[in-house]
Amino acid sequence: QEVHAAEMERTFIAIKPDGVQRGLISEIISRFERKGFKLVAIKLVVPSKEFAQKHYDDLKERPFFNGLCEFLSSGPVLAMVWEGEGVIKYGRKLIGATDPQKSEPGTIRGDLAVVVGRNIIHGSDGPETAKHEINLWFKPQELVNYKSNAEKWVY
Ligand code: TYD
Repeated sequence: QEVHAAEMERTFIAIKPDGVQRGLISEIISRFERKGFKLVAIKLVVPSKEFAQKHYDDLKERPFFNGLCEFLSSGPVLAMVWEGEGVIKYGRKLIGATDPQKSEPGTIRGDLAVVVGRNIIHGSDGPETAKHEINLWFKPQELVNYKSNAEKWVY
């Protein structure tokens, strides 16, 4: 039975300004792509500090909140939506633990980052957050519905 693309799980993934400046865009995209996940939206944006505060609203009481929002709005961010079975949870697995000192080798943060304040990538941490973040960063018409040839070999 065919599963409609609209019902497939989606997550919000962003390469933060450090990842963009360090030239890690293609490295990071290729890890999601090779896994078998499907890219359905992508854009390069410099978020305002107000926008960064909205994105990290859950963390507004934390001591690092201001620095974190300054950092996210300090340069271009590559915002993306990725689709696939289990992409929210497995995307977090590909990314690795929040603190790169604790991320396993083989994960994006484990392989490519050193400190928590410069951990190069963001990924939604659950279905509700994913929905919320996708809506915050993208207009509905920016999400592209298409059939990829790989899909029938991935599933
Ligand atoms: P959080 O949502 O806890 O982690 P994750 O990005 O893995 O979902 O925190 C958001 C970001 O805040 C995190 O990626 C890096 C930054 N941060 C700090 O700078 N210091 C900290 O002690 C923590 C917990 C996070």
